[in-house]
Amino acid sequence: MVRDEERLERFLVDESGLGRFPAECAVLAESRAEVELVLRLAQEHRVPVTPRGAGTGMTGGCLPAKGGIVLSTERMTKIVEIDTDDLVAVVEPGVVLGDFAAAVEAAGLFYPPDPASLASCTLGGNVAENAGGPRAFKYGVTREYVLGLESVRMGGEVLRCGRRTQKGVVGYDVTAALVGSEGTFAVATELTLKLLPKPPAVQTLLAVFADPIAAGQAVTRAIHLGARPRALELLDRATIDHLRGRTPYRLPDGAGAVLLCELDGDPEGLDHALMRCAQACEAAGAIDVLIAQSEQQRRDLWETRRRANPTLKELHRHKIAEDVVVPRGAMPEMLRRIDAIAAAADVPIATYGHAGDGNLHINVLVDEEQIPERAYGAIDALMRATLELRGSLAGEHGVGLMKMKYVPWEQAPPLLRIQRELKRVFDPDDLLNPGKIFPS
Ligand code: MLT
Ligand code: ZN
Repeated sequence: MVRDEERLERFLVDESGLGRFPAECAVLAESRAEVELVLRLAQEHRVPVTPRGAGTGMTGGCLPAKGGIVLSTERMTKIVEIDTDDLVAVVEPGVVLGDFAAAVEAAGLFYPPDPASLASCTLGGNVAENAGGPRAFKYGVTREYVLGLESVRMGGEVLRCGRRTQKGVVGYDVTAALVGSEGTFAVATELTLKLLPKPPAVQTLLAVFADPIAAGQAVTRAIHLGARPRALELLDRATIDHLRGRTPYRLPDGAGAVLLCELDGDPEGLDHALMRCAQACEAAGAIDVLIAQSEQQRRDLWETRRRANPTLKELHRHKIAEDVVVPRGAMPEMLRRIDAIAAAADVPIATYGHAGDGNLHINVLVDEEQIPERAYGAIDALMRATLELRGSLAGEHGVGLMKMKYVPWEQAPPLLRIQRELKRVFDPDDLLNPGKIFPS
């Protein structure tokens, strides 16, 4: 247990930029038995518990909003098994995604979800947030890979749900409800994950555009041509300008936007599919289309994309990260509206994200010490625009503390009520990760 102020500090913050939330202590559980013990004692003494993975979340989901105990699973790092016949892995929640991906790859298999923080995020956190990432376009999000869960409810009861098989329809899909519940229902202690065969070949291209709207149109064109990239990532001019000189791949000077497009599959079909994507980009007005010439160049391109979030953060006092998702066809219009909102509110905005999914990370950048009202006004306007375009307010970062205000903008009272009732079924006294998702 960590009580010492200095050592406790890192458990009181996350990547949301919301600051520090005090707690009594952090418990670094090493086994399910320890998780059970903490949740039993905390229930008996009515102490709030906030579960925590690596703290890479962007909406405050792991911040101890009501104090009490931070329950970290970062020491539960066992990869229990990787079964190459069943295409299943069993892991503890503290396994770092990058370590898992490497182990799976060494076994000739593939685990697609990657929320772009692969080197540090943990699988438990990915499950709690239903993490997405670039490859969701072809392969879907974390929920599609969680076959089963062992978790512990407040009070210490162990709940096993799901299965090891690819199919199974017995009872309600409690596993699916737990995934993405942001640690408010139970604390996962073991995950049974679905794996895929490793795609035999991967190719990556970078298309350069004069503006992000043309890049957005290229996405729709590529889909009309029947292309099925595994990732279609967009970076706008502001993001590119921030990254320039700070990344392993030198993004082209003067680019108004770039689209990073990656395909995988059999080598024979891949060249043809790559050409189709290049044609779609050219038809949408791409100024240049560059194909990664080596594995190293491909890695450099992805590392450059991964740097978007940390670089914007390093260069500004505040980076208010929104994570909206719109129907893919509405993305060019959403990009137009983002420009209009930035201009009207007079705030710089940098946008990048998973264009293939219509999921845009829209970052309002602030250098003043105090975030000005006009920045909050811009965020409200972004949320309204998203809903007008029939989108959703959070594509992959969860609600946590940061987006609570907007949940009733998207969801009607009956839906909010039923979710509150569901929370009471799991945690009647509201002690597990209290104060999250739904405004009180
Ligand atoms: C990403 O796509 O890079 C992550 O979701 C983090 C972010 O929003 O910047
Ligand atoms: Zn993302």
